Amino acid sequence: MERRLVDDYLNEHKFVLEESMQALGRERLFYVPVNLGYVRISSLELIAEEIRKNSVPGAVAELGVYRGDFAKYMNEAFPDKTLYLFDTFEGFSKRDVLIEEANSYSPGTQDFSDTNAGLVLDKMIKPDNCVIKKGYFPDSLEGLEDVFAFVSLDADLYQPIYEGLQYFYPRLSRGGFIFIHDYNNDEYKGVKKAVTDYCNDQNVPFVPICDPWGTAVIAK
Ligand SMILES: C[S@@+](CC[C@H](N)C(=O)[O-])C[C@H]1O[C@@H](n2cnc3c(N)ncnc32)[C@H](O)[C@@H]1O
Repeated sequence: MERRLVDDYLNEHKFVLEESMQALGRERLFYVPVNLGYVRISSLELIAEEIRKNSVPGAVAELGVYRGDFAKYMNEAFPDKTLYLFDTFEGFSKRDVLIEEANSYSPGTQDFSDTNAGLVLDKMIKPDNCVIKKGYFPDSLEGLEDVFAFVSLDADLYQPIYEGLQYFYPRLSRGGFIFIHDYNNDEYKGVKKAVTDYCNDQNVPFVPICDPWGTAVIAK
């Protein structure tokens, strides 16, 4: 499609999507180009509003932070909550990649090592709310005692996604939400398998949403 036609299309659809955000009844927190995760970020904004309105207790957390591009929106959407940031900050672990290879979920070769905690904290509007949990998940949970209002699982691979659900779902407050990114990403088939394994076992319903690569949303 010609560039001008693409722009017209996106502008037209941005208008339609913005209409659906009028329920907020206030200025938007985030303006995200429609083709760059608009649905994911706008869903986060609407869900943060529900959590605030219902005074849902607990912290927020992301497993799979990389350079903090989604975490920075979480930090802004929940200005009064602690934000735990779980990552090796060195990329995938061989332990998890072996499981990917054995089950043909993904090659696990994508490199996420060009990051560090300082770079992530520099992006945050409220860095004092952030607690960096560097290391292999779930080992990095050691000593943590908290409950959660919102969790983003974005670790791409079967094992950390399954472990993340197993840890966070029982500690999710009533009225809280979990986002699992890449649910419909065919390049990382382990994500859908981990979500369906955990949710079928525990009888947990979820809703897939249509952001790029797909997010599954669990509500409690
Ligand atoms: C797709 S990236 C995260 C993207 C990020 N949420 C964003 O907004 O750009 C996946 C991240 O998961 C992390 N990760 C995967 N398995 C992990 C594990 N078992 N423990 C800790 N971090 C892990 C990787 O290091 C990588 O940074």
